[in-house]
Amino acid sequence: MISEKIKSGINGDITIPGDKSISHRAIIIPSISKGTCEVSNILKSDDVMHTLNAFRLMGVKIEEYNEKLIIYGKGLNSLQKPLTDIYLGNSGTSARLLTGLLASQSFVSVLKGDESLSSRPMDRITKPLELMDAKFESSNGKLPLKIIGKDLTNSILNVELPSAQIKSGLILACLNTKGKSTIIENHVTRDHTEIMLESFEANLEIEKSNNSKIINIIGKKELKAKNLNVPSDLSSSAFFIIACLINQNSKIKLQNINLNPTRDGLLKALNQMGAKISYLNKRKVNNEEVSDIIVESSKLEGCSLDEEMSKFMIDEYPILSIAASFAKSPSEFKGLGELKVKESNRLELICINLNRCGIFCETRGNDLYIDPLRKTSIKNNKIKTDYDHRIAMAFAVMGSKIGNLNIENFNSVNTSFPNFTSLFNKAGGNLIEK
Ligand code: S3P
Repeated sequence: MISEKIKSGINGDITIPGDKSISHRAIIIPSISKGTCEVSNILKSDDVMHTLNAFRLMGVKIEEYNEKLIIYGKGLNSLQKPLTDIYLGNSGTSARLLTGLLASQSFVSVLKGDESLSSRPMDRITKPLELMDAKFESSNGKLPLKIIGKDLTNSILNVELPSAQIKSGLILACLNTKGKSTIIENHVTRDHTEIMLESFEANLEIEKSNNSKIINIIGKKELKAKNLNVPSDLSSSAFFIIACLINQNSKIKLQNINLNPTRDGLLKALNQMGAKISYLNKRKVNNEEVSDIIVESSKLEGCSLDEEMSKFMIDEYPILSIAASFAKSPSEFKGLGELKVKESNRLELICINLNRCGIFCETRGNDLYIDPLRKTSIKNNKIKTDYDHRIAMAFAVMGSKIGNLNIENFNSVNTSFPNFTSLFNKAGGNLIEK
């Protein structure tokens, strides 16, 4: 895909697709609940469809109508042994959450993924599950992973890494484990699993203090299905928000955006940078915070973000780096070690690609430093994505400013945002198929 300079601004009312994290959970949780659940505004991206197909393989009846699903859940132990291996493509969320869920089922299953997912660590979820007596076989702590499902023992589990995928996988394992299990989370991470499970009447008790959280779960209680409405994805909105901020004569309105406070770090960072963003009609939908957002072109300052901030916006560093590239002063983002084990090594790819665009950028250990005042001339117009959807979309936005960027393997955007190209071009973007 070639990303050319835009002709005027980025404008209009834009409907961003459903939130990816919530969409996965809106398939997993109803599939193990009792009753019928209607899910509206589900994200139909490759990642989410892999989760959906996994549950169909395990015998769950799921009907699809445009942006709606109807899921007929039959309870915690109603899943059937899949007749084939479960292929999860690029989806880390499916892999980590299903590992926890399937560890406590009564059958053997095998999870597989594409090349990128098969190189990402799975031992971060299997190791704590082994403390509950879970059994796995894998040659290197990665996919393919054989899960020898069985009754698990209730335990006290400490989650040291800042990862909602680990926490959520463990919660799903504990739901089907007799007695009281306790998960101690030492960092804030997105809490969509807990929010949804509470509304499905799971036996959860949550105590919060500063940045840590204790989740007590009494297992073996059946969940009660509820209808769900998935809000639009802030992480996907971020590409439009930054495109609008950095391009002149731009103004957009985004409807129904999820503003869960464990996910809104990007908006706090942009506020520090002087972005003109306003919020309309803040409300709660299925206990998730939601708002409409208006964004206008802005003159941005650089910003300095500490490691704590990374927990609230881990997926947004590629696109925030594009904003920082057009700010009036340098930016520094600290403590980004987790970016190295995402769909690609994002820390490395941000740096390589910004340098190719003539923006001064360097990594200092796990920190990222961007100085837009030390611009160099464009060195290479090829953007290396390693099939990473967020790198591809971030540099599509970069292209809207500097033009003539050749973004490799752009169809990876299907992972999270299948209609990105048409929506971006409709708003004033200039993406041209090669
Ligand atoms: C996700 C959690 C995060 C995030 C990913 C989605 C989730 O991963 O990066 O895109 O839905 O739970 P980690 O748990 O690895 O931080």
